[in-house]
Amino acid sequence: MPEFPYSRLRRWPDVEADNLQAHDATDLLLVGRALALDVPGSQIAVIGDEYGAITLALTDAGRHDIRVHQDLATGRRALARNAEELGLDGFVAHELDAALLAGARLVLLQLPKSLAELEEIADAVARWAAPDAVLIAGGRVKHMTLGQNEVLARSFARVQAERAERKSRLVVASEPLPVPAEPPFPVTAQHDGLTLVAHGGAFAGPRLDIGTRVLLEVLGLSSPRSLSEEAEGHRDETPSPGEVPDRDEAFRLAPLRSTRSTTGRTVVDLGCGTGALAVSYALAHPDARVIATDRSAAAVASARATAAANGVGDRVVVTHDDAASELSDASADVVLLNPPFHLGSSVHTGAATRLFEAAARLLRPGGELFTVYNSSLNYRAELTRLVGEAEQLHRTSKFTVTRSIRR
Ligand SMILES: C[S@@+](CC[C@H](N)C(=O)[O-])C[C@H]1O[C@@H](n2cnc3c(N)ncnc32)[C@H](O)[C@@H]1O
Repeated sequence: MPEFPYSRLRRWPDVEADNLQAHDATDLLLVGRALALDVPGSQIAVIGDEYGAITLALTDAGRHDIRVHQDLATGRRALARNAEELGLDGFVAHELDAALLAGARLVLLQLPKSLAELEEIADAVARWAAPDAVLIAGGRVKHMTLGQNEVLARSFARVQAERAERKSRLVVASEPLPVPAEPPFPVTAQHDGLTLVAHGGAFAGPRLDIGTRVLLEVLGLSSPRSLSEEAEGHRDETPSPGEVPDRDEAFRLAPLRSTRSTTGRTVVDLGCGTGALAVSYALAHPDARVIATDRSAAAVASARATAAANGVGDRVVVTHDDAASELSDASADVVLLNPPFHLGSSVHTGAATRLFEAAARLLRPGGELFTVYNSSLNYRAELTRLVGEAEQLHRTSKFTVTRSIRR
């Protein structure tokens, strides 16, 4: 049988670049192992297939009715497009739920970035898959930690790490353990009047991200007193060398209190995570129409649960989408954005730029984009170019908050 044409796969609509591929050595290892085990497709579940390489290579090899769960809307669209391009079908997409895993005897997993996400997945496999299910998890060696094995060992009696091949490694987890009556996720935390609910894969978990706090404070959506009393913050970043984190300076600022009426305004929380910005806005402005949107299914489920937990479930619409592509041009009066930030990753600026472009598309002329970002990134020129003059509302060594008025 000819080798599966991995190089024909595309990442689109995710960020594409010459140095970024739509498959990696881990995909090849997982596919090779699954084919060697000779399990029928209807008993295989694939989780975290980034752009469809695993699902499509197995489908191409005659494994039909594979069930697949991808967290990202971009990954789901890439899989659908790659499948169409290659003329392959016969797999079924699911959320991370019982239907994905019922009766599955082989679960293939591209290891997620966070341990919390892995914990939710491992529990789901132990809870819903066949009693003799084997979970084969793979990742790039440089991203793998012993903590991942420890998390797997909470749900499986046997966890065996294999030798690395081409800088990737498989970990085989078997003999699922009895699960607690209630799944470990979602988890909930209180933040002085705001309840955050988080699934494992949601940014910052149930914590209020420190950048989000600063933006909330600048917008007058939370009290400085409550913020400074908050427990330890979190952000998926590494401080710049020599940078001294100064939490207090971030909290000494005058909130911006808009005098404009918010009645009938459409406000979009772009990349909503657990929904902290959208729900805070909805609580403070009962007459506004609030839309929260994220490309992560874990974020979407979390934001819906956060809205419900704060009594605004009927006033915050949450959508699973890539860069709000399903919302109309010039349909928003305000966009709130805490863009993704992954230091050291080749995609970090591309991911933020995509959301600035989306904000420019969504806002009506005169509409406002409020953004918080790490001060070292200096996005102001890009925001001005893509959206409109970016006014600096607040700046510390760590965070900058800007308002751009759509030209
Ligand atoms: C830094 S987090 C901020 C989350 C939340 N707004 C907060 O302040 O806590 C960035 C969020 O953007 C989402 N995101 C990244 N790229 C996206 C895209 N193309 N479309 C939609 N959401 C995206 C991520 O999934 C993540 O939840």
